[in-house]
Amino acid sequence: MHRAAALGGRLPRALPRLRGRERSGAAAKLGRERILTPESMNPQVKAVEYAVRGPIVLKAGEIELELQRGIKKPFTEVIKANIGDAHAMGQQPITFLRQVVALCTYPNLLDSPNFPEDTKNRARRILQGCGGNSLGSYSASQGVHCIREDVASYIERRDGGVPADPDNIYLTTGASDGIATILKILVSGGGKSRTGVMIPIPQYPLYSAVISELDAVQVNYYLDEENCWALDVNELRRAVNEAKEYCNPKVLCIINPGNPTGQVQSRKCIEDVIHFAWEEKLFLLADEVYQDNVYSEDCQFYSFKKVLYEMGPEYYSNVELASFHSTSKGYMGECGYRGGYMEVVNLHPEIKGQLVKLLSVRLCPPVSGQLAMDIVVNPPIPGEESFEQFNREKQFVLSNLAKKAKLTEDLFNQVPGIHCNPLQGAMYAFPRIFLPTKAVEAAKAHKMAPDMFYCMKLLEETGICVVPGSGFGQREGTYHFRMTILPPVEKLKIVLEKIKDFHIKFLEKYA
Ligand SMILES: Cc1ncc(COP(=O)(O)O)c(C=O)c1O
Repeated sequence: MHRAAALGGRLPRALPRLRGRERSGAAAKLGRERILTPESMNPQVKAVEYAVRGPIVLKAGEIELELQRGIKKPFTEVIKANIGDAHAMGQQPITFLRQVVALCTYPNLLDSPNFPEDTKNRARRILQGCGGNSLGSYSASQGVHCIREDVASYIERRDGGVPADPDNIYLTTGASDGIATILKILVSGGGKSRTGVMIPIPQYPLYSAVISELDAVQVNYYLDEENCWALDVNELRRAVNEAKEYCNPKVLCIINPGNPTGQVQSRKCIEDVIHFAWEEKLFLLADEVYQDNVYSEDCQFYSFKKVLYEMGPEYYSNVELASFHSTSKGYMGECGYRGGYMEVVNLHPEIKGQLVKLLSVRLCPPVSGQLAMDIVVNPPIPGEESFEQFNREKQFVLSNLAKKAKLTEDLFNQVPGIHCNPLQGAMYAFPRIFLPTKAVEAAKAHKMAPDMFYCMKLLEETGICVVPGSGFGQREGTYHFRMTILPPVEKLKIVLEKIKDFHIKFLEKYA
């Protein structure tokens, strides 16, 4: 009898102490191959890439451990400017939001005199909407009904009275989950009829990752760097016409304000995009998670839904649209709650049923995240006890972000070999870096993309972790990196100065 079998399937005690490769060798000798291996795994999952948490971030983690072990470096801390995670960068939570969450989580606090009455009213209302008056119960798959009502009222206020129906609102696990779910329903066909999904380049890599996972066809349209990363409908037309040769372009994704590019679309541009979607029969996905993050004086956020309605019945009765919002960005930055919503317009009634069916397989989004979403869409209003403090905290975060956006643009543009478009919105800079030929050759010798090479060197020499532009997509032969503007102002100034010094030395080294 085989030795492992003789042991009743248990391996001898010494075996678990062996290291990875030795252990798999030993397991192979015992005649058992793993079922799940890099060769046998789902190839679509293997193809997925997510730069925001990619190799550079793994390296940053290793360097942090080395610093903890006392290994000397030219810096004392790693600054993670790679991800839009505001609280991780020291941003304080909005008090009102956390008070309502605290009350709902531990309702005994409703008797405490330390919470303002308006926080208690919000908490009681939400708890009444939860099964057994508890945040710990599952909700309906589409989300708690009174929260969907609040989302619909918020959208109506935001869009100057354009009607919103709670039945068209789906609460989601962050915006990511809503985007992935609707794409899952949209993708179909094979060969030349496989669904093509149009995405901006540069893009937020959730899109390329989900497209890979679903084995859909990624159709790139390029944003115009020379024109502040504006979206040009002629470029959409070029992309769709080329894509029709090899797939069925069916979905057009827009990120406004843009990540990683920080542009805010003009109303005219949104109208042009909607007209294009109508003409080409494309399902629109409008990722509007940065709707509160607009800094340039001459820019304003317009939702796709509002513009669609204002373009008249020919458009609003026909164009299919899903738009997304989240608790993760804006002034609250509550990424960890995983709150979000999706609003759909003109979705086929049967598809609504299919969508709820799909969502119900996962039961429901986290109810704590739904609650956080409720507070974002239903904040204190003038006259309420918490209003003054809420408004002060919100304005503090937003005015700081505006200051940091300008500071970052100005400083980068002082550095030879760096060009940075205005950060009109969102929370990132995506400067272009002009790399000398010798640096490009050195990167090739290290089997790295040139901007990955640059970002690795930046990390190793300064402890600053940013993401190479290649992780978001960029025009061939151009190089960029993405950096968040989330560190506190004083720290951000230090980060920018360090990048400037590094860049100048880098240019000298590879001149
Ligand atoms: C453009 C964009 N869409 C969606 C998301 C996902 O956000 P969430 O945390 O709500 O899933 C992000 C996160 O950074 C983003 O930048």
